[in-house]
Amino acid sequence: MAPAPSDNPFAIGTLVTGDEFADRADELRLLEDELPSGGRIFLLAYRRYGKSCLICEALRRLEKNTGAIAVYVDLYKASSEREFWELMINQLVAGSREPVKRVVDWLKSLGGTLRPTFSVDQQSGMPTVTLGPVATSAELGRLRERALALPGEIAARGRHPVIVAFDEFQQIHEFDGGRLEKQMRAAFQQHRQVGYVFAGSKPHLLRQMAEDPNAAFYRFGRRLELGPIPAEAWFGYLKPRFGKGRIQVSGDALRRIVELAEGIPYYVMRVCRLLWPRGLRRQTIDISEVDAAFGEIVDEAGEIFAPTWEELTLAQRRTAAALAEGRGHEIFAEAVRKVYELGAPSSVARSLERLRDLGLVGHEGPTTTGARYRIVDPGFVAWVRRQRPRDPIVSGARAPTSAQEQGSQPKRARRRGRL
Ligand SMILES: Nc1ncnc2c1ncn2[C@@H]1O[C@H](COP(=O)(O)OP(=O)(O)OP(=O)(O)O)[C@@H](O)[C@H]1O
Ligand SMILES: [Mg+2]
Repeated sequence: MAPAPSDNPFAIGTLVTGDEFADRADELRLLEDELPSGGRIFLLAYRRYGKSCLICEALRRLEKNTGAIAVYVDLYKASSEREFWELMINQLVAGSREPVKRVVDWLKSLGGTLRPTFSVDQQSGMPTVTLGPVATSAELGRLRERALALPGEIAARGRHPVIVAFDEFQQIHEFDGGRLEKQMRAAFQQHRQVGYVFAGSKPHLLRQMAEDPNAAFYRFGRRLELGPIPAEAWFGYLKPRFGKGRIQVSGDALRRIVELAEGIPYYVMRVCRLLWPRGLRRQTIDISEVDAAFGEIVDEAGEIFAPTWEELTLAQRRTAAALAEGRGHEIFAEAVRKVYELGAPSSVARSLERLRDLGLVGHEGPTTTGARYRIVDPGFVAWVRRQRPRDPIVSGARAPTSAQEQGSQPKRARRRGRL
């Protein structure tokens, strides 16, 4: 029987692991080699490059192959320091399968008004710890101290390594900034047999945390920067998946998928997910369908991009337009500043900084006029380029080269005369 559209093998918006996980062989090897012996890794990547999936796949493998107690803590799930500790304690308790009595004794030792409660979720069977509100800073200090010691205590008791992965670690700044980080470092560096991952989607912030000599985590671990997945690896992954639906995808169409998505996992999977039901109907996929699918994604993403665009100053928009049109390596050049009306180099630098803080722009090389800047989201690149004719501010901008035009603009959008 032919597969149904619901058998779509391209998962999106979930953590993809195991057989569904593509490539990342080198990164997985590094994580699997370093973490069980107490390695510490700073994992940096822009949004949607697949950090969370990589962490979860590495933790899954380490649990399976080394019996490690692997714990994943997503800082976006905590809106206060207390919630952060509650999350970490819960993950450690669940992952370590410590005897209930020991957990309860440990919780009692927290004392104060925290009044922790311990329950077991009926459905998942997972233990759940709930902490009451923190009344004083001394109480928060005690909770912090005890929670920070916990990974080391669990590792010392068992025969298996403990691995703690903090996702979106730059959020730690929101809680208490420098002091908390110093205490974390002081605690973690005493732990034997505990590996740590500090991951973040604002690479410049994480780099600062790990490489600024004044920062608490200065040289505390190795840096692992996650790029796109190379085209060859994608071809090997995508072909058999389309094959499950007996869908013929031409080599050109496959190349187009990876080209438009810039090899970024989220976009590759998103385009393929849209192509799957169409492929089932027609049994083939060609370049024009790939372009149309990407165009639809950009249309949809406009709902997210438009409010962000509204928040930008005109100078920042013009800078984004110049980057979207491939001027990132010469953004400070006089000719480019003139064409795009970007003003003095200092105002370009300010615009770039704001765009970077919003997670829209990244750069290779140091933050100097020599670095190459780029918009890190290919959907945003395509969307910004669509805004151009409607935005009189950049109407004097030079048209992109035909190679750029052909390379990243969906035909559907061109047909509509938007570009
Ligand atoms: N190695 C992979 N193989 C297949 N698909 C992947 C892979 N990595 C990521 N993806 C796809 O990309 C999507 C986003 O991945 P993930 O959530 O790991 O990115 P992220 O970098 O953590 O994003 P964010 O910065 O938004 O948290 C996943 O839902 C999945 O569809
Ligand atoms: Mg993530």
